[in-house]
Amino acid sequence: MRPHVSSVVVVYDSAVPEYLLRQVTNAVTDNGCSMKLIKAARGEKNKTVESAMQLAKKLLKAKVDRNSLVLAVGGGVTSDVAGFAASMTLRGIRWACLPTTLLSMVDASIGGKTGVNALGAKNMIGAFHFPEFVHTDFRWLKSLPEREFRSGLGELQKTALLAGGKLWRICLEAKAKQLRKSTPTLRELVKLSAKYKAKVVAGDPKEANTRHILNLGHTFGHPLESASNGKLSHGEAVSFGIRCAISHSVEQQLCSTKLAADNLTLSRSMGLDTVTKMKVPTTSELRRLLGHDKKSKDGKLTLILIEKAGRPLVCDGYLVDDVAKIIIANQ
Ligand SMILES: NC(=O)c1ccc[n+]([C@@H]2O[C@H](COP(=O)([O-])OP(=O)(O)OC[C@H]3O[C@@H](n4cnc5c(N)ncnc54)[C@H](O)[C@@H]3O)[C@@H](O)[C@H]2O)c1
Ligand SMILES: [Zn+2]
Repeated sequence: MRPHVSSVVVVYDSAVPEYLLRQVTNAVTDNGCSMKLIKAARGEKNKTVESAMQLAKKLLKAKVDRNSLVLAVGGGVTSDVAGFAASMTLRGIRWACLPTTLLSMVDASIGGKTGVNALGAKNMIGAFHFPEFVHTDFRWLKSLPEREFRSGLGELQKTALLAGGKLWRICLEAKAKQLRKSTPTLRELVKLSAKYKAKVVAGDPKEANTRHILNLGHTFGHPLESASNGKLSHGEAVSFGIRCAISHSVEQQLCSTKLAADNLTLSRSMGLDTVTKMKVPTTSELRRLLGHDKKSKDGKLTLILIEKAGRPLVCDGYLVDDVAKIIIANQ
């Protein structure tokens, strides 16, 4: 049996509406738990070691003990930082995730990866620390800005390509208006997508091998996201990265041009077909950013390519310069 929860610390993104926070805090206090509230530092620029450390200290000041629970209320930045702070505090206290962005519902809240950016690159310092539970309430998407909503669609596009089958089919058949907030189609897609990710994670929790596939679009997308200084959202960067992965797969005769065309159709209905909104970094900048890729082995990169929807391929041994060339060719 799990030990009882001695106290709850709600770590929240200040952009979430007041009613939402009240709903959460009422649920906690209705359960008779003692509760403290901590406002999290918002946005990707605050996904830093300093923020995580500060939060860990605030948790200590809030007198957490080994049976306390941290409730992260917000998007992927809040859960990445709060989960990491929980993993460090008292050598690891429990945490749970209440995602308030589409991206987090589809992806960031699932899988136990927590962490922060460092040296100008994404997620360099962190820990595997699985949440006790994830609770999703689609009504919370109502206040989410359109740009952030689209960002979540980028991760959904990734999962649909990886999973294939029903998830991919529903995505392709969906009209643009069905891929908007709170439609039954979107709800079904999020559920299927979260289930797929949870299954992949369960098969390889610490990313020793098969979990690598979840990185589709990321090796190509992360450098652009890092270099854009917030101009490009995570999901937009991933969607761009998927385009790179598919076009390279076509070039290598691994997949059909039909998949590339279908992917473009989906990007359009998701509103993710915009050309990159930023100047693509130079080759030397890309070299530096790609050099930080955590999946590199002996200085070489692993790419996730694709044969068809539902059949990703893990391909090792790519030189940084070759990956930079693919990014530049697809801008
Ligand atoms: N740990 C993982 O496995 C994993 C997986 C995918 C992505 N990520 C990370 O997640 C982050 C992106 O997540 P995100 O897109 O949720 O970003 P985010 O947490 O920064 O949220 C996006 C924006 O929406 C605002 N917001 C959040 N909920 C809101 C609501 N309900 N109403 C109004 N505004 C709201 C936030 O203040 C922020 O400005 C990236 O740092 C990425 O690396 C982590
Ligand atoms: Zn991602």
